[in-house]
Amino acid sequence: MKPVIAIYPGSFDPLTNGHLDLIERGAKIFDELIVAILRNPEKEPLFPLEERLEMIRAMIQGRENVRVDSFDGLTVDYALKVGATAVLRGIRAISDYEYELQMALMNRKLEPRLETVFMMPAETYSYLSSRLVRQVATLGGSVRGLVPELVEKKLREKLGPSARLAQRKEATHK
Ligand code: PNS
Repeated sequence: MKPVIAIYPGSFDPLTNGHLDLIERGAKIFDELIVAILRNPEKEPLFPLEERLEMIRAMIQGRENVRVDSFDGLTVDYALKVGATAVLRGIRAISDYEYELQMALMNRKLEPRLETVFMMPAETYSYLSSRLVRQVATLGGSVRGLVPELVEKKLREKLGPSARLAQRKEATHK
C-alpha cells in the first residue's frame, strides 16, 4: 500500500502546545506528516520564517515520520508537489468550524483528490491560539505551559524588557 502523506499547513507564529498536540496525533495516523509553514508576504510575522522553521525542527526532533517545510501559493499546489493526499487541520471549538469548513471546501473545489482531515487537540488547549500567545507575551503576561519552553525563551528574547519583567513578577509571586 502507498504510504499516506499529510500536510499540516499554518502560520505557526509561534508554534503552541496545541499545534504540538495535533502534530503528535497526526503522526500516529499518517505515514508521513509535513508541517508546512505558509510564507505569507502580506503578513508581517512576529517570528521570521527561518526562526519558525528552526523552532519546529527542534520540537519534532526524533519523530521519524514528521518533517517541517515552508511553502507559498496555494496549499493544494504544495500538497500535490510533495505527494500528499490529506490536509490536517485542528478544530478547537465550534467557532473554528465555519472558517475551516470554508477552507476545506475551497481546497476540495481546487483539488478534489485532496481530503481535509480535522482533529481535535486536547481540551486543555481549546482556547489557545498563536494570536493570543503573541498578544499576551507582548503585553508581558506569562505563556508558560501554553508553548514549548524553547518558544517561551524565544518570545522572551524577542519581546525584551516587558517579557522579562513579567517573568520576574511571576517568580516573586511563587
Ligand atoms: O495557521 P493559519 O493562519 O490558520 O493557516 C491558514 C492557512 C495557511 C492554512 C491558509 O491561509 C492557507 O491555506 N493559505 C494558502 C493559500 C490558499 O491555499 N488559499 C486557498 C485555500 S482557502
